[in-house]
Amino acid sequence: MAFEIEYAKAPLGHKIHGLDLAHLKEDEFQQLKNIWNQYGVVVVTGQKLAAEQLLDFSRRLGALEKFIIDAYNLPSNPEIFVVSNVIENGKPIGMADAGRMWHSDMCFRPEPSFGSVLYALEVPLSDDGTPLGDTHFASTAAAFDALPADLREKISGLRAVNSFSARIAAAAERGAKDASMDPVALDHLKAQRDKAKAEVPDVDHPLVRTHPVTGRKCLYLSELITSGIVGMPPEEGQALLRQLMDHITSDPFVYRHSWSVGDVVMWDNCSSMHYAIGDYQLPKRRLMYRTTIRGTRPV
Ligand code: SIN
Repeated sequence: MAFEIEYAKAPLGHKIHGLDLAHLKEDEFQQLKNIWNQYGVVVVTGQKLAAEQLLDFSRRLGALEKFIIDAYNLPSNPEIFVVSNVIENGKPIGMADAGRMWHSDMCFRPEPSFGSVLYALEVPLSDDGTPLGDTHFASTAAAFDALPADLREKISGLRAVNSFSARIAAAAERGAKDASMDPVALDHLKAQRDKAKAEVPDVDHPLVRTHPVTGRKCLYLSELITSGIVGMPPEEGQALLRQLMDHITSDPFVYRHSWSVGDVVMWDNCSSMHYAIGDYQLPKRRLMYRTTIRGTRPV
């Protein structure tokens, strides 16, 4: 099957039309994987996938891991993490506020996820039909390449602390102010995160890491989760993290994805970070299935 690439006006987020992920031939799969590795984020449009087909495709990319909070994994296929604001029988069917800050998936783990695959099943629309709940992606590789030499030198060899506890505290503070969050979802999230907290100690990772496939250097930090720099006074560390975050999330490095039902976005968690907007609320429904590919210790 011939496919077409529609290039985004950003270093990542190019769209691929004309592929059927449920029936990919080996050569198509290898081409797609190469494009993904090269750009970090690709959007495969027009998919119609059963849960098993999403899993089969994702497993071709690598071993899968379950999301840390089991309550948000699909009961019939727990390797699918459900991202959704939908509440059924008084219970959220997925995590309502996933990705509401710039982050890289599972950065608070010693071996963070290599990549993630997010499939759109339901997309909220504004009254004029514009999709809501866009996701922004930023290239941490292009952002690193664009740093001035003295800053590159300053940060090489530094390690940054990544903290699930810090993430919980930030989510709680933000959730309390977030009008899009249903109170049922908010209470549920708080209880689930508190339960998970004890199992996730803080971890430090290199602030500049090397992409395991391409060898590109990438900035590695997440907003409000990366809480400081090892061996640096807290204020200085925070200021450096803020400076880098502002740089990575500036226009030249960012692609904003406006979802259509059937889109599959694949990202790698080394050369990109992402952030989802919460500009919708029930009864507008958003339902996404995410699979997550296991990674290795960042170097
Ligand atoms: C995520 O961070 O995995 C979810 C992103 C999104 O819902 O758009």
